[in-house]
Amino acid sequence: MKNKVGIAVLVSGGGTNLQALIDAQNSGDIISGRIVCVISSKPGVYALERAEKAGIPHYALDRKALGQQAFEAETARIIANSGARLIVLAGFLSILSAGFINNFPGRIINVHPALIPSFCGKGMYGLRVHEAALEYGVKVTGATVHYVNEIPDGGEIIMQKAVNIRDGDTPEKLQKRVMKQAEWKILPASAEKVCAEILKSEVK
Ligand code: GRF
Repeated sequence: MKNKVGIAVLVSGGGTNLQALIDAQNSGDIISGRIVCVISSKPGVYALERAEKAGIPHYALDRKALGQQAFEAETARIIANSGARLIVLAGFLSILSAGFINNFPGRIINVHPALIPSFCGKGMYGLRVHEAALEYGVKVTGATVHYVNEIPDGGEIIMQKAVNIRDGDTPEKLQKRVMKQAEWKILPASAEKVCAEILKSEVK
């Protein structure tokens, strides 16, 4: 049996994207990888309960109390101990330093709730992204999964999925539709794609 790529999932909140990854693992949509740890940048978030229910080792770090440097050092230590070789940012709300990112070249992916290069970059996260899309008046938005480099939302695109904007949309309604129709689909699909590529690159 071929090996699976260990996946570390970094979260900050409710963990619906984490849940999509867990569900995809259970249904066999993710077969080339396996979630080996979940790390939260905030204690007490529901994502940790989802990990607990799924029997996945999980770690609650307090980024604000620790400071960015200690948070990243602890995160790197947990990842190394878990044997993870792919880091998936799933509703992870802080920006990682270039120093951290450069230690995992081509091994960190993120889901952003818009069609990059629209409505992305520093400060564009959560509801702000959807507020900006509605304010601009675009008729189509969506989600993007991309590799993470030192430019926020600037790494190579892996997958995108478009979502129509409807009359009467609010940022909250749009956020839900983008998650359901796009993020929860392309994040697991991208994780599988990247894990399969990692395995393939190792076949001699
Ligand atoms: C939402 O803001 C979503 O648009 C963004 O992450 C958040 C969802 O977080 N990409 P979670 O996965 O439910 O924690």
